[in-house]
Amino acid sequence: MSNELNLSARDNCKIIVANWKMNGSETLLKDFATFSPSKGNDVIICVPFTLLDSAKEILPNFIKIGAQNCSEEDKGAFTGEISASMLRERGVTHVIIGHSERRKLFSETNSIISKKVETVLKNELTPIVCIGETRSEKKANKTFQVLEKQIDGSIKNLGSHIGLIVAYEPIWAIGSGLVPSDNEIKETHLHIKEKLSQFFTTYIPVLYGGSANSENCSKITSIENVDGLLVGGASLKKQDFLAICNC
Ligand code: PGA
Repeated sequence: MSNELNLSARDNCKIIVANWKMNGSETLLKDFATFSPSKGNDVIICVPFTLLDSAKEILPNFIKIGAQNCSEEDKGAFTGEISASMLRERGVTHVIIGHSERRKLFSETNSIISKKVETVLKNELTPIVCIGETRSEKKANKTFQVLEKQIDGSIKNLGSHIGLIVAYEPIWAIGSGLVPSDNEIKETHLHIKEKLSQFFTTYIPVLYGGSANSENCSKITSIENVDGLLVGGASLKKQDFLAICNC
């Protein structure tokens, strides 16, 4: 799995991840049944738990299926939770961990996120770990400090040779139509990569997320150190997501 990611990085392929959040249906999946981008980028669609089986059945084989969360526990009396091994059993390959909505609305701390990342890796799935600053943290010039703290707290002690994806998602850019400047993205991704290289010997792709769409995707993915995109709203529209996958 990590070899595949290394290859993608070397071959200049991008990793395009759809985050459907609490949206989507069998009907939307059927709409994506004929999804056929002309470029060979890696495409991962992260659907709600209830659509995992249908996604596996309906989506074209080149699309990998991802989940949007999982429990930090392996099994037991945790009503309503889903474990990483259950996801693996359903054919999932990737799991989004620590999305800002989970951090904020479901009180997920770095320590919970780090346990989730561990259990995902233990089950040989690839975690897509989200990090990002709030608008006020950005205004206070604390972006790098916040990102470093999130990396230290959630993905530092994992061993040096692992398959992991990081998604930089400025919280103020998510669903807002606002996107950082090219230079801000460039500098922030470089900073994240430098920080990650202190801990990992494997190539860790860093995706950008936050109001990515069919119009800005080519510009963003051409920025140095941007290995792909994590796309929310625009991934629910087939034509828009197709254009993004062709960037
Ligand atoms: P957005 O969401 O593309 O709708 O801004 C991105 C995300 O939350 O992952």
